[in-house]
Amino acid sequence: MIKAITGTKDILPDQISEWKRLEKIVEEQMSFFNYKEIRTPTFEETVLFSRGIGESTDIVSKEMYTFIDRSGTSITLKPEMTASVVRAFIEHKLSKKQSLHKLYYISSMFRQERPQAGRLREFHQFGAEAIGGNDPMLDAEMIELAYSILKLFGLKNLEIKINSLGVPSEREKYKNELQNYLKDKIDNLSEDSKKRFETNILRIFDSKDEKDIEIMANAPKILEFLGEESLNHFEEVKNYLDEIGIKYTVDFKLVRGLDYYTNTTFEIVSGSVGAQSALCGGGRYNLLIEQLGGQSTPATGFAAGMERILLACRNEGCEEKNESSIDIYLVRMEPAKKQNVFKIADRLRLSGIKTELDYLSRSVKAQMREANRMKAKYVLFVGGEEFEKGNTVLKVMETGIQEELPLGKFDEIINRIKK
Ligand code: HAM
Repeated sequence: MIKAITGTKDILPDQISEWKRLEKIVEEQMSFFNYKEIRTPTFEETVLFSRGIGESTDIVSKEMYTFIDRSGTSITLKPEMTASVVRAFIEHKLSKKQSLHKLYYISSMFRQERPQAGRLREFHQFGAEAIGGNDPMLDAEMIELAYSILKLFGLKNLEIKINSLGVPSEREKYKNELQNYLKDKIDNLSEDSKKRFETNILRIFDSKDEKDIEIMANAPKILEFLGEESLNHFEEVKNYLDEIGIKYTVDFKLVRGLDYYTNTTFEIVSGSVGAQSALCGGGRYNLLIEQLGGQSTPATGFAAGMERILLACRNEGCEEKNESSIDIYLVRMEPAKKQNVFKIADRLRLSGIKTELDYLSRSVKAQMREANRMKAKYVLFVGGEEFEKGNTVLKVMETGIQEELPLGKFDEIINRIKK
């Protein structure tokens, strides 16, 4: 049997309503906040991500789906959208049109991670990017926007964590300090963290190893290394959040897994999904546009993992029951022909009525069973003596009341159903 690739998932019809509910909330909130949708290709030149996200990150060093296509170009399935959005922003010279672009997306992403609950190899993100503004209000707006979507979806067990990674010069000073602090503790670090000490020292904060966590708890904190401007920016983000009553905790361990961040970083975590608790992550990336060949442009954004959000919702019992039903089921009886029913169905459907009919030449009894299974609001009997007189019988399923209606007065049937 051919099965779906490990780490990928089919979304079956009975799961779709929750996806659609989430997508609808995303689209509505994005429109209330005036973000415009952008769609970019599924794959890009590999260099976009290696340069954008950073060579030493886990994503680039071990998780990307990369292949050489027939023309010899190195191609990568997008592991995230920020680099792609920035590429599109530069390529289409969007900065010439207006100075601030507020963009959003809903799309599949691909990362070859070890699959587990809430961690897939093809997963879906929605996210937003505001390109062209350095105002801390925009960072706060990102947090507010992401949080509002999660709340509207019905999630409760949420925590917002924020931090600032400052600018590169501040971060370099901090990394040196961290190196000094860890120098005589290296032997006690996990194997992974020993490697990270060399390649990406900040990521040691992400280690789940107990000993690492204990060591890092006493490490110097980045906020102590920020200059006045970075500190002010961070204070203002917090002030804006206070202004609208959004609660957060400052977490000096929040370093994020992508290299492009400057200043603000944030995550929204859920207590309802186990180890993969980050539902959403983002922050400011003021240097990325220049790094990818554009003009220096400040930007900030976030992305949220939709599978994790749906999982959290399932675990919290916040799913909404969607009793899918049809408006009308057409039950055919002799002497009516299939063509007669097909024609009636066509007219009903084109009038905006959800209509179903029998394709399997079933008995009247079996057709009624189908109508009940589909929770049809009405059944229209097409056939019998009434049909010979040019009539049909409309049955209201809830009350059992039946009414004979002339087929010639089709509008009457439609009006009854639409009432
Ligand atoms: P990220 O933290 O890599 O950030 O991903 C954002 C969210 O995507 C995570 O919090 C998580 O919910 C979800 N996610 C990531 N990997 C997986 C996976 N393998 N399976 C399921 N869900 C996953 C970014 O992608 C940045 N582009 C966010 C951003 C936008 N920063 C600025 N603008």
